[in-house]
Amino acid sequence: TAAFAVRLSGTKYGCGIGGCGACTVMISTYEPTSKKIMHYPANSCLLPICSLHSSAVTTVEGVGSTKTRVHPIQERLAKCHGSQCGFCTPGMVMSMYALLRNHPEPSMEQITAALDGNLCRCTGYRPIIDTYKSFTGVGRKTNRSPFSKVSTNFECSVSGSLTKIRFSELLYPTQEFIFPPELMRMAQEQQKRTLVFRGERTTWISPTNLRELLELKAMYPKAPLIVGNTSVGLEMKRDGVHHPVFIHPTRIPDLHVVSNTNNGLVIGAACSLAQLRDILMKVVPELPEEKTKIFRALLQQLKTLAGEQIRSLASLGGHIVSRGSTWDLNPVLAVGNSVLSLASKDGTRQIPLNDQFLAGYENADLKPKEIIVSVFIPYSKKDDFVSAFRQAERRRNAVSVVNSGMRVLFKPNTDIIMDMNILYGGTGPITVSARKSCQRLIGRQWNEQMLDEACKLVLGEISLSPSAPGGKVEYRRTLLVSFLFKFYLEVLYGLNKMAWESPNWNGYEHSVVSVLSLGYHILIKQDVDPVQPPQDPVGRPIMHQSGVKHATGEAVYCNDIRAVDEELFLAVVTSSRAHAKIVTYYLNITPLPYTVTVHLYVLGVLQVICVGQIVCAVVAESAVQAKQGVEKMKIEYEDLEPILTIEVISQLSFFCLKKIEQGNIEEGFKSADEIIEGEIHIGGQEHFYLETNSVLVVPRGEDNEMDVHVSTQDAARVQEFVALALDVQSSKIMCHTKRVGGAFGGKITKPAIFAVVAAVAANKTGRPIRFTLERDEDMLITGGRHPFFGKYKVGFTNDGRITAADIEPYINAGCTLDDSEMVIEYVVLKTDNAYKIPNLRIRGRACKTNLPSNTAFRGFGFPQSGLFTESWITTVATQTGLPQEKIREINMYKEVNLTPFKEELDATNLVKCWKECMEKSEYYSRKTAVEEFNKQNYWKKKGIAIIPMKFSVGFNATQYHQAAALVHIYTDGSVLVTHGGIELGQGIHTKMLQIASRELKVPLSYVHFCETSTITVPNAIVTAGSIGSDVNGKAVQNACQILRKRLEPIINKNPEGKWEDWITEAYDQSVSLSATGYFRGYMVNMNWDTGEGQAFPYFVFGAACSEVEIDCLTGDHKNIRTDIVMDACFSINPAVDIGQIEGAFVQGVGLYTMEEIKFSPEGEQYTLGPDTYKIPAVCDIPEQFRVYLLPNSRNPIAIYSAKGIGEAGLFLGCSVFFAIWDAVAAVRKERGLTGTFTLNSPLTIERIRMACADNFTEMVRLDDHNGLFWPWNL
Ligand SMILES: Cc1cc2nc3c(=O)[nH]c(=O)nc-3n(C[C@H](O)[C@H](O)[C@H](O)COP(=O)(O)OP(=O)(O)OC[C@H]3O[C@@H](n4cnc5c(N)ncnc54)[C@H](O)[C@@H]3O)c2cc1C
Ligand code: FES
Ligand code: FES
Repeated sequence: TAAFAVRLSGTKYGCGIGGCGACTVMISTYEPTSKKIMHYPANSCLLPICSLHSSAVTTVEGVGSTKTRVHPIQERLAKCHGSQCGFCTPGMVMSMYALLRNHPEPSMEQITAALDGNLCRCTGYRPIIDTYKSFTGVGRKTNRSPFSKVSTNFECSVSGSLTKIRFSELLYPTQEFIFPPELMRMAQEQQKRTLVFRGERTTWISPTNLRELLELKAMYPKAPLIVGNTSVGLEMKRDGVHHPVFIHPTRIPDLHVVSNTNNGLVIGAACSLAQLRDILMKVVPELPEEKTKIFRALLQQLKTLAGEQIRSLASLGGHIVSRGSTWDLNPVLAVGNSVLSLASKDGTRQIPLNDQFLAGYENADLKPKEIIVSVFIPYSKKDDFVSAFRQAERRRNAVSVVNSGMRVLFKPNTDIIMDMNILYGGTGPITVSARKSCQRLIGRQWNEQMLDEACKLVLGEISLSPSAPGGKVEYRRTLLVSFLFKFYLEVLYGLNKMAWESPNWNGYEHSVVSVLSLGYHILIKQDVDPVQPPQDPVGRPIMHQSGVKHATGEAVYCNDIRAVDEELFLAVVTSSRAHAKIVTYYLNITPLPYTVTVHLYVLGVLQVICVGQIVCAVVAESAVQAKQGVEKMKIEYEDLEPILTIEVISQLSFFCLKKIEQGNIEEGFKSADEIIEGEIHIGGQEHFYLETNSVLVVPRGEDNEMDVHVSTQDAARVQEFVALALDVQSSKIMCHTKRVGGAFGGKITKPAIFAVVAAVAANKTGRPIRFTLERDEDMLITGGRHPFFGKYKVGFTNDGRITAADIEPYINAGCTLDDSEMVIEYVVLKTDNAYKIPNLRIRGRACKTNLPSNTAFRGFGFPQSGLFTESWITTVATQTGLPQEKIREINMYKEVNLTPFKEELDATNLVKCWKECMEKSEYYSRKTAVEEFNKQNYWKKKGIAIIPMKFSVGFNATQYHQAAALVHIYTDGSVLVTHGGIELGQGIHTKMLQIASRELKVPLSYVHFCETSTITVPNAIVTAGSIGSDVNGKAVQNACQILRKRLEPIINKNPEGKWEDWITEAYDQSVSLSATGYFRGYMVNMNWDTGEGQAFPYFVFGAACSEVEIDCLTGDHKNIRTDIVMDACFSINPAVDIGQIEGAFVQGVGLYTMEEIKFSPEGEQYTLGPDTYKIPAVCDIPEQFRVYLLPNSRNPIAIYSAKGIGEAGLFLGCSVFFAIWDAVAAVRKERGLTGTFTLNSPLTIERIRMACADNFTEMVRLDDHNGLFWPWNL
């Protein structure tokens, strides 16, 4: 595909299946007949290179670069802090660039639609949206066109409130690149010429006219017609389908026809879905409303279907023919009685696009030699009602769980059903029709009795077995009837039988997907000391050191390192069993000249203990060959019994047990008025860093030396493991990390394993080895956040005071210990969150199972234990009947206290954050407004919640806080800073440069950072635990202070001199211009035998208030507003820190509401890519998102009184979880379901819907089939 064709570093490879947008490029084509140039964004990972003949492809390098000029889109994104790790950034730039080429002044809706196919795991999207808002005209100070040639000041939310940003001049469209005239010529000439490309295994033919196409189809009936390749491409990638011939029909005008007939629209089959949307948007306002019901239903689906890149590639014909069961247009086209115009060498004919076609019945389908030329979509009639529904796991860029098209035709001027048609997708392998049910309803009146019967009929007709692939069986069945009910209401309204104000209707408007409002994001301005010199950058919102390089695609990541001479590629063979003995394994092909297998029984792999465990590796001359080798590897297993879940405690074995206790638990329970007991489950989380694991090992050829370029958070560990595996001294292994495309804890322990595999291969072959994991491999092998199961017993008084809590948390560690001991320690140490519980016992266990080994993840167990605590606090509130915020306030730490492990804690700032958050969010007035809304609305509910946080920073071991730095000053005065921290997107190098600039008193432009390496800083600690900038900052400060001290006599002698003069003088006087800085670390001393000690250096406090709205019929929810107050003390770089808070918060929203890892009952992970695992996208952030830093707060023990806040914000994402809980509670109360209830995490659409119990959920309850079915997932 195009992604691999040119090795430019700007086009990133994040998933390979069109789901992440990292590979976005802009395609421009010239259409000779209309003489129009079209620009559209595309996922280059799915673009067949042959399809691009005579098209112009613009990559991010073509938009702008530091060597030529940086484009305003790139400059603004960088200056407004829109990139962190930067791996998604070129894709964002390209999506925005393609939009601006077509719409120079886009609306906010167009911007969100343009970005909905681009995932970012770091920023939380707010700064990206905010930046691009400047192109709408809304955020600009002037009202001139964005392309006007005027310098402009734009106040971006972060920087704008802190400093004004001055952007460079904007561009005229004419200053943009011009479509190459030779390509126009080519396109014109080629109209007459058939194109044929022959490869080793495949031939690509692009005919010029319909006749030729039909002849080709007759000659190669099995050859696919490739238009967008979004369906065929996926089959090839996922299922290894091979096609010897492809036919590319896009140059044939007949397939692009668009015509408006007397009865409807005719749309050419090769029109893209984006074109279809644009056509319908143009046609709908021009026609009488009654004619456009089908079009409007289609438009509704088109707005949320896939991302803009896929919509631009995918064709209507491809959509119809590939007919995935969850494809959204087919049910609507079918109920709308659309007709397909087919052609073959033998002639033309028309067939209906109906359920039989969608089921692939032979007599209703295309013949092998036929193609679809066009699709006729009729106008609707006056007495017609047509609606479309879809519900996906994410609001945009996610295929539907269930979708539907529904149509009813009434006898004129009555409500008597004359005809009815309902189709559902997502219930099985094909789109199905409720044909019999609809027939039974003909002649009935549109009333509640009809609805009741319709629901029963549909549930009887559309079967879904309890083991149905995809799971969520009860939920999917609920959607069948919930959609039907929505349709019923819509039609009722259309028949004028119901007013919008009617109680039944209330809260159910057609669920238009919300467009992010232009919510403002006020931030408390952080004032630096007025006497601070202007050149001193500390405390100022300095742009990320790599920001511009991210945006121009010049930033180099591990896999962007240019090909090394003689390099080989490595791929791994992984276990397909959760627990088994390996009987034998062999390469099922003889001989493969290019492969060398690396047998990892060197590492003791005789038994496999999880699916995805690396068993052996294959290296070859190319990545494709290495993968082919892997496919030929055969392993025979003898299965053993696996353990996969941690709910059956009696069957488990534990890696470790950690316990702390304070007060007298028995006495505490005795003094309680009431005691409650319960359990909660919290699912795990994939790191989903955009850059997958990657390593390049280059043997130096002498003394066993090796360079290891690796994407890791812990270069020293990689060095140690590689040295151990090769049995060489660590001094021979040089690890280098320039930057990492996101890590979040996932690149602490795992990269060492990948580096060992590659190093063993490099050692064996004597050649460089490149090993980059595909997204699915990465997700399969690496594990993630620990799934959590907690049991509690809590005693409290009637006025809401908690007197005692006995807590038992369990984490699913997976098959090896990894970082699980530390994680369970943190679970135990942090369970109290913000609450003083006088009698508390916590006994936490890390459980051993046959899942891939789980590992560190931002927050290290606190996101689970904190949610657990807040859940039982919420339950106490329900039980006492007191408001949640009151229970929180009553039990919150106040002033100076001791934690359960006797560490001193000053909670003043906790209380300040809480109060400030209450105030800023206008909690009480909004709570009243929420209650009012809930009274008025039956099918939609709002919820609001405010959550406090105490987050402990750092590690509970002193040696993990040490840090070193090496600072060189060169004779020209330039400064090179190195330290042990790794750039993961958190802006650590930016902060280090700010520190060096202040300490050396030189402008920022003098200071440079090159790479983190084990050569310059040995034995560096892992960059994690929120303290990376903190401790490395102290080391950099120390090194700079040493240097400054050495320079002092020279400066004192010549105080008016320039920096360069002093440096020259120092050199002349033989003063060393290089210094090592060191920080011994914060002292901590947790004693697990006594359960007491100082476990952490300091605490970060915060509070967040979130408001949501839920759709009770589908479980969908919308994040309306979030206010966060964070005690970041004096931030070294407020823009970076706010980015961390927002990014972590959105990752927390993902953890608690959306991200769900699914395993089969055999322990095989199903969720292996962006198609099956949903992280938040641009549509998921709160419409109003405000972050405030607590003013006047100081942290004397840390550098410049700052605080590490890289992780803390993640937990605050649970304010959304509890806001949803609040909304669900309102639903249940209204339905008479009083009493406590538990909600597990993540609170997905399925869980929300099923918790909003009503008649529909009752109707679909499955009997348990006497337990005689094998569930699809665990
Ligand atoms: C990341 C991603 C997200 C997606 N999300 C959604 C979603 O949310 N909702 C949704 O509905 N769909 C979604 N899809 C599916 C998408 O709609 C289909 O893949 C797409 O419409 C297929 O069109 P195409 O042109 O790419 O087909 P291709 O892959 O090019 O072709 C598909 C098939 O159609 C045949 N074909 C194409 N044109 C003709 C013709 N004129 N006559 C006869 N046969 C023809 C080909 O022979 C081939 O068998 C998604 C796909 C991806 C990759
Ligand atoms: S790499 Fe192409 S969309 Fe993810
Ligand atoms: S900055 Fe977007 S993925 Fe890292």
